Formats: sequence, structure tokens, C-alpha cells
Amino acid sequence: MTTIFQATEQGLEPQAPRRADFATDFLWGAATSSYQIEGAAQVDGRVESIWDRFAATPGKIRDGSSGAVACDHYHRWPQDLDIGRDLGLNAYRFSIAWPRIFGGPGGKPNPKGLDFYERLVDGMLARGLQPWATLYHWDLPQALQDRGGWNARATVDAFVEMADAVTRRLGDRVRHWITQNEPWCTAMIGHHEGWHAPGIADFRTALQVAHHVLLAHGKALPAIRANVPDARAGIALSLHPLRPASDSALDHAALARHDGLRYRWFLDPLYGRGYPEDTLRLVGAAAPVVQAGDMEAIAAPTDFLGVNYYFPETVADAPGHGPLGVRVLEARGETTAMGWPVAPQGLAELLQRVHRDYRPGPLYVTENGACYDDTVTADGAVRDLGRKRYLMRHLAALHGAVKKGVPVQGYFAWSLLDNFEWSEGYLRRFGLVHVDYATQQRRLKDSALWYRAFLREPG
Ligand code: FCB
Repeated sequence: MTTIFQATEQGLEPQAPRRADFATDFLWGAATSSYQIEGAAQVDGRVESIWDRFAATPGKIRDGSSGAVACDHYHRWPQDLDIGRDLGLNAYRFSIAWPRIFGGPGGKPNPKGLDFYERLVDGMLARGLQPWATLYHWDLPQALQDRGGWNARATVDAFVEMADAVTRRLGDRVRHWITQNEPWCTAMIGHHEGWHAPGIADFRTALQVAHHVLLAHGKALPAIRANVPDARAGIALSLHPLRPASDSALDHAALARHDGLRYRWFLDPLYGRGYPEDTLRLVGAAAPVVQAGDMEAIAAPTDFLGVNYYFPETVADAPGHGPLGVRVLEARGETTAMGWPVAPQGLAELLQRVHRDYRPGPLYVTENGACYDDTVTADGAVRDLGRKRYLMRHLAALHGAVKKGVPVQGYFAWSLLDNFEWSEGYLRRFGLVHVDYATQQRRLKDSALWYRAFLREPG
């Protein structure tokens, strides 16, 4: 850990960079996703998603909650975008809820769903926030799941149709498109580990899903480019720097196996190398069905890569554990309330590695943030020192990577608002802004006040 701390009156504070240390056109954003914040689950023709169904299944969400109301962003978006503008952000990452657009197989897209995103995007533009739209952040229409979901090849075509409809409507005002958020999570958490929707636990299915999600990304790119003048399109991957549990040859071999599935399985095909051969050998009969032309479609050129970074993983050899005989160890040392290690240097390391190994062009940190057990003080403040320090230290690491020549062009904090944290429900707060779910009151946490001061600091 090379982060430098400096003594201040408040104690030991991490030394953060200044905004002026970054390029003037660097993007400073915050990120959200549709199911996590919108609520309004049955409004304006929105249909059921796999997350509505999963959340309604007893035992799947820790506090028994769902995204049915969430932050009620569907109705409160003007206030939320005002907050983003007042913080001094110049970009905002959000996602399109497919269930708001879905018109049924062969059906026409729901105009009210498209209208909502048009209003939202116009709201961003009016506030100087560059819209970054994600086309899939995990809320698949349940009707498509009933026909096989991402395991079915037809879902790829359905995604391309949705991407076409959305970019046709918004392409004149949204230039930046992220096709898929974290394909590893869709595939492995949703279909192998099974603790995310749709809750399937089958490794072969997970690899087929991963293939279809990557294919959906590649096949949507031509539609996006056809509808969006001067489009900039890419994908956002969840990536972790990996560390061996020990210096033993066995742990190093386990690390290489884990690296194959966690990292190279997604990056190699995206950058034209096909699936990694060592991993293909290891997964054996669980390998996906790949049709002629698929790998070329997946490798369609992109304009940037989005990296979602939270923490490094430490892996050990564990014969019989999981499909590859690998165990990810519990974190030691400093962790967030999620139990995730705090490791700012991991961000720099990861960005350097992706740049060195794949040369994907411009990189954007499309998510980075931390969960803490925030409380509101009697005077209405949220003293989230942990998150503030997390942000300062990660921006310092980011600056370090930029100084070493890694072409990072933007940073999106996860998240603008506290929100529905998937299987953890509302128990986990990641926001820069506190949400009181009983009253829907928003309060800037100290981390948000710090980010605002950072963003407003004169150069
Ligand atoms: C990421 C997800 C995002 C959020 C954060 C904490 O994996 O993309 O929706 O849940 O984790």
C-alpha cells in the first residue's frame, strides 16, 4: 500500500489529488442502475423482471425487500439530477430498465418506457450531466426468462431489438452506451452461485449465459452505431486484481485457473483472442455452444472499456471446491461493511494490467465505491468518514495510474444514492447521498460534501 497519509487537525487523512491534477475534460460522475433506484414497478406498462420474481421468493433477499419502491427515482428524478448537478458532476451513469421497454415477443416497444428515459436524459442534458446509458444492468423481463432467459440464444436477438429501439429514440442525445454491466455477475452469480436472479445453480448454464451476454454485447454494437451519430460504445466488466494465498506452487496454479475464468474468459474474446485455451480445457464439457461467427461478433471494435472495481481477491488451491478447485479467501485487514477489503492500489494495478494486456483504448472507472453502516446524526449529518477516505484514497490511486500513462478518462462513483443492493436489500448503503426510505428524504453524506469540494476546487 503506497497511499500517503498526512496529519491534519482531524487526525490522519489520506492525501487526495486535486481535480486540477486530472485532464480538464476528465469525466466525474456517479453511477446508478434502474432496478436499484427507480421503484414504480407497475407504472406506465413496466412488466415483471427477474428481480421482481426473485425478490418475491422467500429467503432470497436478506431483509425480505424488493425494488418495488426503492428510491422512487422514477418520480423523484428531477431532484436526484439536481443533486448530481449541485455536486459538480459532469456525467451520470444510469441504466435502462428493459421491462419498461419490453413489448412482448414480436411486440412493439412500450412508448411510455421510452418517454421516461427521454425525459430523464433531457433532464441530464439540461443540468450539464453527460448521459452514460447502460442497456443491461440485470433486470431481464421475466417473460424472457420464462423462455430460457440468457441461456436461450433468442434472448440475444431480443436484446439487440431492445438496444435498437432505445438507441433509435435516444441516439440523438446520448452518445455514450454501455451494452452490458458485469457479464461475470450475470452469468456466475445468477446462474452458477445462484444468489442473484434468476437463481439458477448450474455451471454449464452459467458459461452458456456468459457466451450469450458477450454475444448480445457484440451484436448490439452495429445497431448502436447505426442509430447514434458519433457513438461511443463499450462494456463494463467487474474485475479484481488477484493475489495468491501463499507462495506455494499450488496456490499460484489456483490463481492462474481463477484468473482464466474471472478475467481472461471475458477480456480475451472481447479483444479477439477467443476463449482462453487453458480455461476451456479445465471447464471441459461445460464449455458453451459457440456458433460460426460468434467470436467475430463478440470481438467487434469498442470505443472504451468500463472497469468496475471494488476489491482484490486472494485465492487458494482448494481441490474439489467449485468448478476449478479454487477458494476465494475471506478478507483480512481493513474492510468495508460488506466485508470487502479496502485496497486502493488494487485499482491502479488493475487499470495498468488491463491497459498492458489488451490495449482497449480509453478506460473509464464505471463503478467504484464502498458500503458503510451510515447513521444520521441529530443535526441531520451523515459522518461517513470511511467512505470519504475510501474515495480520497481511490482517487489518489487513480491519479497514480494516469501519471503512469494509463488512458483513464473518467470516474463514476458507485453510487449516487443509497439503493436496493440486490440480495442484501436495503441493509447495505453505498450512496454518496443518504436515502431515508420511510420518507424518501435525501441527505448529502460527508463523502458527497468532500466530492463536491474536490469537484469545485479552482484549478
Ligand atoms: C456491482 C453492481 C452494482 C452494485 C455494486 C455494489 O457489482 O454492478 O449494481 O450492486 O456492485
